[in-house]
Amino acid sequence: MEQLSAQVEHYKREIAGTIVANKDELENFRIKYLGTKGLVKSIMGEMKSVAVENKKAAGQLLNEFKLFTEAKYEELVSAAIGKPLNQGSELDLSLPGAVLPIGTRHPISIVQNKIINIFRSLGFSVAEGPEVEDDWHNFSALNLPENHPARDMQDTFYLNESPAWLLRTHTSSVQIREMQKGKFPLRIICPGRVYRNETISARAHCFFNQVEGLYIAEQVSFADLKQTLYFFVQEMFGEDIKVRFRPSYFPFTEPSAEMDISCLICGGTGCSVCKKTGWVEILGCGMVHPKVLENCGIDSDKYTGFAFGMGIERITMLNYQIKDLRLFSENDVRFLAQFKSAL
Ligand code: PHE
Repeated sequence: MEQLSAQVEHYKREIAGTIVANKDELENFRIKYLGTKGLVKSIMGEMKSVAVENKKAAGQLLNEFKLFTEAKYEELVSAAIGKPLNQGSELDLSLPGAVLPIGTRHPISIVQNKIINIFRSLGFSVAEGPEVEDDWHNFSALNLPENHPARDMQDTFYLNESPAWLLRTHTSSVQIREMQKGKFPLRIICPGRVYRNETISARAHCFFNQVEGLYIAEQVSFADLKQTLYFFVQEMFGEDIKVRFRPSYFPFTEPSAEMDISCLICGGTGCSVCKKTGWVEILGCGMVHPKVLENCGIDSDKYTGFAFGMGIERITMLNYQIKDLRLFSENDVRFLAQFKSAL
């Protein structure tokens, strides 16, 4: 009896001090102490050799040892829940997955989506077209015949294979494609990447993004154009924004204008961004030239329309006070991760 209780004491200490690091060790504990060939079972077998007068005490002792061991096992199991138990060979599919870092939208996309949403609310739909264009859609149809001096306004990348193919210099080419479809009224915006052969600097790049817009219907007027763009800048930059239109020249619009907004940085008092003028130019616009309508097979006596075009980089730079255009295409994650938006 003395021997038995010394043995039980010894195992109790061993069991009490056990910790398990993974599922395998937990299972090993169960097998070693509580399994069919485990220690509890085998020590119960000792009952046979206990003298009759001690049987009752021995039974109590061993029963208590069994309960003690089972309680310890329960404790180990519950401590293991919520802890990674798959450090061993077994994969535990019930564990929560590792959280992957989620990317952020590019600032150009954020601003582009915002612009699109504003014009969508006015009934414009999005039209897209190819980046590799033919000369006719990019220039000739837009009242820029060959050798027209205004072609120099946009330095062009031509494809080596054929000078008849080029990288579009503006998304006006998409407007031509849509006008040719002949369905009116036509109310579209054309977002997309465009290319110009310019030396790369903080203020210029050989590719950038535009949103151009076009509205063709009967009796569209310059007043409609102004009101549409005024609505746009108020939605984009807030109610306090001021605008002004300056006469300008584009071969595909007549009359043509450029629109300035009051400087977002200084509010119009003059700073380095607005070159002390209080105004920054954000887009070109005008009434679609009758020749452009005719080129697309549209009766210019019946239909009139307005068009406008803006650079998304420019607006993004103003919005976030970014001073260098090159940041947009360098893919520096430290720069890109700063822009969080639901758009
Ligand atoms: N296509 C012109 C550009 O890229 C912008 C523009 C569009 C101007 C429509 C007037 C009307 O510079």
